[in-house]
Amino acid sequence: MTRGLGKTERIDAWWKSPLAMATYLGVMIIYASWRGFMEADFWFFSEFGLSGSGQTMAIEDKNSHVLSPLFSPLIIPGEDGLGSLVPKAFYWMSPAMFILIIPAGFRGTCYYYRKAYYRSFLANPAACVVSTPFGDYNGERRLFLFQNLHRYFMYLAVAYLFVLSYDVWMATQFHKGSEHSFGVSVGTLVLALNVFLLSGYTLGCHSFRHLVGGIRNKFAGTGGKAAETCWKACTGLNRHHNKWAIYSLFWVMFADFYIYMCTTGVWNDVVLLGGL
Ligand code: FES
Repeated sequence: MTRGLGKTERIDAWWKSPLAMATYLGVMIIYASWRGFMEADFWFFSEFGLSGSGQTMAIEDKNSHVLSPLFSPLIIPGEDGLGSLVPKAFYWMSPAMFILIIPAGFRGTCYYYRKAYYRSFLANPAACVVSTPFGDYNGERRLFLFQNLHRYFMYLAVAYLFVLSYDVWMATQFHKGSEHSFGVSVGTLVLALNVFLLSGYTLGCHSFRHLVGGIRNKFAGTGGKAAETCWKACTGLNRHHNKWAIYSLFWVMFADFYIYMCTTGVWNDVVLLGGL
């Protein structure tokens, strides 16, 4: 094989896929970071009524509560509830910075994303039969052992699905003073589709598939039928894990962008059903 960075005897456009993936992941990472820092002044400035009244985390002007998935569950440093657990040294952080640790850890250690970013960002290797820049690929060793944390991030990601489902429910609960009503806005549907896509991605995870059935040597015996059913369902999702990974990531960012656009008055979150 020809040696050297990007050297290969392949004559097809092998670089298209890693380049496209690098662009896609790069845009998503930059967007999430930008939004994460956007509300970093929330705690400080909310005391002066600045970010506190002009926040971009949730659509509230329709008497609804459509919370961005990047800021859910809402952890406002210093506030009651989850925020009260935050040490004072971290009060400068925005709610999103606490939250993003879980999805970033889950996706960053995902088997599919590992393949994608090893190729796109590390060129190690960039594609099949393309030379690596740092010598031969010889497995995930030393620092890369942290990738084994994936199964633990998976537990958190599954719990996170319940949190996001609760947000969909909250987005149907319109409030004005003592008045309360059920309603559905475009934002509600955006959040619901987000949970659907994230469920397809999370429940098709290799670690989850192992947990629900792959761990067994045989499906006979107690609970075998249920395990087999779950395992087959996960296998079905797992076959298209790459697509679920890409589409769900896009939709998380789009859901946040939609809410950002609505909170800044560029778009209007149309109420389709009920509401106040
Ligand atoms: S392998 Fe991709 S989420 Fe677990």
